[in-house]
Amino acid sequence: MKGFRWLKPLLGCVLLLGSGALWAADGRAGFTSCIACHGSKGEGNTTLGAPAIAGQDAAYLQRQLQHFRAGRRGTHRSDTFGAQMRAAGATTLRDDAAVAAVAAYVAALPKTRQAAPAKGDLRNGNNLYHGKCGACHGGNAEGNPALNAPRLAGLDAGYLKRQFAYFRDGVRGADPKDVPGRQMAMMARTLPADRDLDDVIAFIHQQGRPK
Ligand code: HEC
Ligand code: HEC
Repeated sequence: MKGFRWLKPLLGCVLLLGSGALWAADGRAGFTSCIACHGSKGEGNTTLGAPAIAGQDAAYLQRQLQHFRAGRRGTHRSDTFGAQMRAAGATTLRDDAAVAAVAAYVAALPKTRQAAPAKGDLRNGNNLYHGKCGACHGGNAEGNPALNAPRLAGLDAGYLKRQFAYFRDGVRGADPKDVPGRQMAMMARTLPADRDLDDVIAFIHQQGRPK
């Protein structure tokens, strides 16, 4: 058997590659049930209130999907959009492996951005963003996985505003087990004026655009 010592590592490699490919296939299959709302490229659909998810950080996506599953997000009585998402995920996101696979698949999709960027006072938005948001969400709203802060640059204005209000008003990020959400909820209370938020969103939409 001496001559076959190479067989074991080779077999290990084949198994590893095989299971990786299966996982990706699972993610792709799972994603087909998301397309009706989030779009075939994961670019989102503003009419349906479904945000862009393509290229978002995998760990963030996974955490949100688990929040929806566990009822830590989308259960507040005023959160009708979250309730739709919970219902949509109920069959596809049946276990941890399915959630991880679809999150990995979506995270690997090319990032998208808003075709029509929101308008606002970019100077005010720039100052406020760098003063109050950039430390966590990154200088270009690209996100910072080490701080659990998602990419904001690709999200539409309606979704950004809604989530911001959700955090501020205790609709999202209020569950004791949702530590990153609670952190963001605290930050959302530091920006009281809606007009300031419009300016911050206008700044966020300028990020990653060709100058
Ligand atoms: C019936 C429409 C619908 C379907 C189908 C659907 N979603 Fe959603 N999804 C939504 C809506 C609406 C929201 C926004 C919820 C909110 O405003 O809090 C959302 C939110 C999300 C979020 C949170 C994004 C963020 O930035 O925090 C993720 C992740 C997500 N969906 C992933 C998926 C995946 C993966 C699938 C397929 C397995 C899927 N969705 C299927 C409507 C849908
Ligand atoms: C202390 C760090 C921190 C700061 C500062 C911060 N955030 Fe966040 N933010 C987070 C974290 C962490 C999350 C993810 C929460 C979760 O997992 O649900 C988040 C989530 C969000 C979301 C939800 C995105 C989505 O895809 O659903 C929005 C919108 C947002 N932040 C906007 C802002 C804005 C605008 C500011 C500045 C006024 C800001 N944040 C400041 C940490 C921060």
